[in-house]
Amino acid sequence: MDKFYVTTPIYYVNDKPHIGHAYTTVLADVLARFHRSLGIPTFFLTGTDEHGQKVEKAAKLRNEDPQKHCDDTVERFKDLWKRLGITNDYFIRTTNADHKKVVQEVLQELYDRGEIYKGDFKGHYCVGCERFLTEKDLVDGKCPECNREVTEIVESNYFFRMSKYQQWLIDYIESHPKFIMPEFRANETLGFLKKELKDLCISRHKSRLSWGIELPFDSDYVCYVWFDALINYISGVGYKKDEEMFKKWWPASKHLIGKDILTTHSVYWPTMLKAMNVEMPETIFAHGWWLTGREKMSKSLGNVINPMDMVDKCGVDAFRYYLLAAMAPGQDASFTEESFVKRYNNDLANDLGNFASRVLKMTLRHSSGLINKPAEFNADDLEVINAVKAGKAAMEKAIAEMKLDQGIDSVMEIVRAGNRYMEKTAPWTLAKKGETARLETILYTAATAVYHVSVLLSPIMPEKMAELQKVLGTAVSDRIDLLDADAQILVGCTMQDSDPLFPRLQEEAAPAPAPAPKAEKKVEKKAPAENVVDLISIDDFFKTQLKTAKILEAEKIEGADKLLKLKIEVGSEIRPLVAGIALYYKPEELIGKTIVIVANLKPAKIRGVESCGMLLAAKNGNTLKLITTDGEMASGVSIG
Ligand code: MSP
Repeated sequence: MDKFYVTTPIYYVNDKPHIGHAYTTVLADVLARFHRSLGIPTFFLTGTDEHGQKVEKAAKLRNEDPQKHCDDTVERFKDLWKRLGITNDYFIRTTNADHKKVVQEVLQELYDRGEIYKGDFKGHYCVGCERFLTEKDLVDGKCPECNREVTEIVESNYFFRMSKYQQWLIDYIESHPKFIMPEFRANETLGFLKKELKDLCISRHKSRLSWGIELPFDSDYVCYVWFDALINYISGVGYKKDEEMFKKWWPASKHLIGKDILTTHSVYWPTMLKAMNVEMPETIFAHGWWLTGREKMSKSLGNVINPMDMVDKCGVDAFRYYLLAAMAPGQDASFTEESFVKRYNNDLANDLGNFASRVLKMTLRHSSGLINKPAEFNADDLEVINAVKAGKAAMEKAIAEMKLDQGIDSVMEIVRAGNRYMEKTAPWTLAKKGETARLETILYTAATAVYHVSVLLSPIMPEKMAELQKVLGTAVSDRIDLLDADAQILVGCTMQDSDPLFPRLQEEAAPAPAPAPKAEKKVEKKAPAENVVDLISIDDFFKTQLKTAKILEAEKIEGADKLLKLKIEVGSEIRPLVAGIALYYKPEELIGKTIVIVANLKPAKIRGVESCGMLLAAKNGNTLKLITTDGEMASGVSIG
């Protein structure tokens, strides 16, 4: 890879930054830091989307000029990114003169070439989403995204000839498997493209909206906010301004987006680029949603997680770690403070914190912190060294495949192997017995494992990992490309005493059991052993996201008697799912059934076939019945 260019969506400047914004930006930051740490030239772009009706309205409410309103509100994003240690190379605002000029040049060029034309627009408009909708888009006469009422309109407008690129786009997606990721999002886009693709209305009459970029060929209109916003990805790296810069960074390696803005990125943006004769980005990666428990976060429900509050409570690095470790990119994830505290205590305070502290304490006691040269390694040492090498390779693979949660888990496996090693080799007893050479080999090996973990996790927890390297007495480094498990770079370093890096957090105290009634003393009946179940909290249950799904297709998998490959619809998503029900159902019996699935199961390959989710069925001896709904129910509906 000769360069890496990563983008986040540009956020609506009006919004109060929440965990969803924080997640995409931290994910982009971690990818940027990783690539830099591999020595790859990297450019990281984020910014704000500042035009449109919502901003105009909000400014009016404040009795403020829209630009001044943007200048004020943009600070909330800038402050948060500073707090979260975000290392973007440029912050683009769509009200920047440079960006506006590029948008106007693109519009003029497309207009001159006949890619934009004037016509009549009949349709509906959703103010909340700033989207024009056709009759077909509406669900029960309302906006399909936010379910709000829409306004009907007819007016002259300018259109981009998007429809003419429909077949080209289908072919492009089909022949570029990495273009839209995860794969099921590519299928979702292809599903969308089965319907006739209409031309895109790219203008708004100034009588309705004036806060936008004026069309260079008709001053009565401003540009549609999405057309303006998407162009940030090229104007931010010098398009039509600094050709050398543009050539250096474009095409983007990864556009990171949330799943709700898939169509704008997977249909509008590629067709716009095609019309402009600009190369396609390598990958558009759509991540899932952060939910509160199982609910979508929304202002009206009052369940929006404010990233600043979390950072205040637990520190920046722990928050960054949680965001990446707890979400499988692509799938939805549930945020609760309880699950946050649990993961922090398990992974950071117990596993990593304990490992580092054991190595530190033993080395301080034995040699005042000096890390000595190891003697010959035995099988126990080699097991840890191999875990270190495997962890590094797994992390690099995870980055390339956008499976960061799995990469983090592989690095934590080094930590777990390290803790097992300390217990097995018991260096404290070797110290007592005076077996110095063996003891020093173990302390060296363990310190080397800590060092590798610190470098591998530094893109995720830059501050804490730098602190850890100071504890190891070595120079601060995040250079994964320079890691070499055999290089013995710690020999001669002196470890420095420190407070725990990750002090344990208090878990919510369990409610006190109700006092037993005094008068009648009941003899507790013991439940028979087979009835004893581990009780789980409601939060544990909420980790499992159950949803309705409709079976669209079913077929046998060759060579696997028990398995069927299904194509299911989960709301707007189409997913593959492999189920072990072939002995109980014929494929044709299944089509059209509304079933229940675990929707947030990590995707897996079963007999080489991708499976996203698991269906629920009840099995009693030789009878198996699918769990279905009692009557008609849409797909993608949450259950619980
Ligand atoms: N301005 C447009 C993007 C234009 S890009 C050319 C926009 N802005 S946004 O501020 O509304 O949303 C930005 C991103 O935040 C989207 O990718 C969206 O998916 C993400 N999130 C909003 N809520 C979210 C969660 N609860 N969880 C994860 N991400 C979600 O759309």
